Amino acid sequence: MEKRKIVTSARGIDANVNVEDEKIEGSLRPRSLDKYIGQKKIKESLKIYIEAAKKRGECLDHLLFYGPPGLGKTTLAGIIASEMGVNIKITSGPAIEKPGDMAAILNNLQENDVLFVDEIHRLNRQVEEVLYPAMEDYAIDIMIGKGPTARSIRLDLPHFTLIGATTRAGMLSAPLRDRFGMIHKMEFYEPDELCEIIMQSAKVLDVEVDPNGAAEMARRSRGTPRLANRILKRVRDYAQVKHNGVITKDVAVTALDLMDVDKMGLDHTDRNILFTMINKFGGGPVGLDTLAAAIGEDSGTIEDVYEPYLIKNGFINRTPRGRVVTDTAYTHLGLENRASSEI
Ligand SMILES: Nc1ncnc2c1ncn2[C@@H]1O[C@H](COP(=O)(O)OP(=O)(O)O)[C@@H](O)[C@H]1O
Ligand SMILES: [Mg+2]
Repeated sequence: MEKRKIVTSARGIDANVNVEDEKIEGSLRPRSLDKYIGQKKIKESLKIYIEAAKKRGECLDHLLFYGPPGLGKTTLAGIIASEMGVNIKITSGPAIEKPGDMAAILNNLQENDVLFVDEIHRLNRQVEEVLYPAMEDYAIDIMIGKGPTARSIRLDLPHFTLIGATTRAGMLSAPLRDRFGMIHKMEFYEPDELCEIIMQSAKVLDVEVDPNGAAEMARRSRGTPRLANRILKRVRDYAQVKHNGVITKDVAVTALDLMDVDKMGLDHTDRNILFTMINKFGGGPVGLDTLAAAIGEDSGTIEDVYEPYLIKNGFINRTPRGRVVTDTAYTHLGLENRASSEI
């Protein structure tokens, strides 16, 4: 299995968790489904499943959330557990090294508990195999003895809900994926949803934000709540030092320009990706690995963290022959587009 390194940019505006986030995210994390903004389709179906499971007194079916970092997967897992009124045990793919570790975790769960496995695509094969009977039959098979006398015994487990989160659903093995009752793709957030999140966080952080200030920060948050919160904190610092603490549109614009986040929320790395594709590869098509090597970034990080937003906003297209920069990107970067520059 591929080992993916998570690169945290110096400006701290990429969507992966950093130390500062961990401290403050706890306080900004919504705790109920009503406070969880956006992702309407997921919320609607969860509400129904949660109500039905509670009525039957059963645990929820296993759930998989996938999508880019910072869109609220961990938060949602916590909310589900609290709406169900059960405990949540949190772990991650790379943290569980041996099948025995997984067996121990499962064995220690209580009836109807939620087990949250972050980065579930990074579980190793043997550990994953422990999960198959656990998910399907709430049981694990344990080998006793060695050699010809070895035999396996089946141990019953409490009923539980596995919630898996991954940035790449495609990296999950088919047998594991098939054992999830529900698979949900997390969508990028619309600016008005991010606005609401920013206002909600501003209340918790006790910062005054005017609606235009919030809208400006929302527009530049790459559709990502984690970034919206991080931007809010940075802009708050700026507002407190340079102004009277209130975040107006002007304050937000100046602070964000200083942070090198442009009007569409693209940061230095996003623009570097686009410029490299244009200057070195004539706008594409270019393969992911070639592009990664050219900008000195990990290809997994480009694929999971940067590219989804660029594709969603129509700056890049994926074609069978590789990635291609679109006319929208040329315009955004203030360049003449390929068609006209080729004439
Ligand atoms: N739907 C949402 N509504 C409000 N805040 C959210 C929402 N989703 C995420 N957040 C905020 O963004 C932060 C990052 O979310 P998280 O669940 O850790 O993302 P992921 O696990 O997908 O990387 C959370 O701490 C929370 O403050
Ligand atoms: Mg997470």
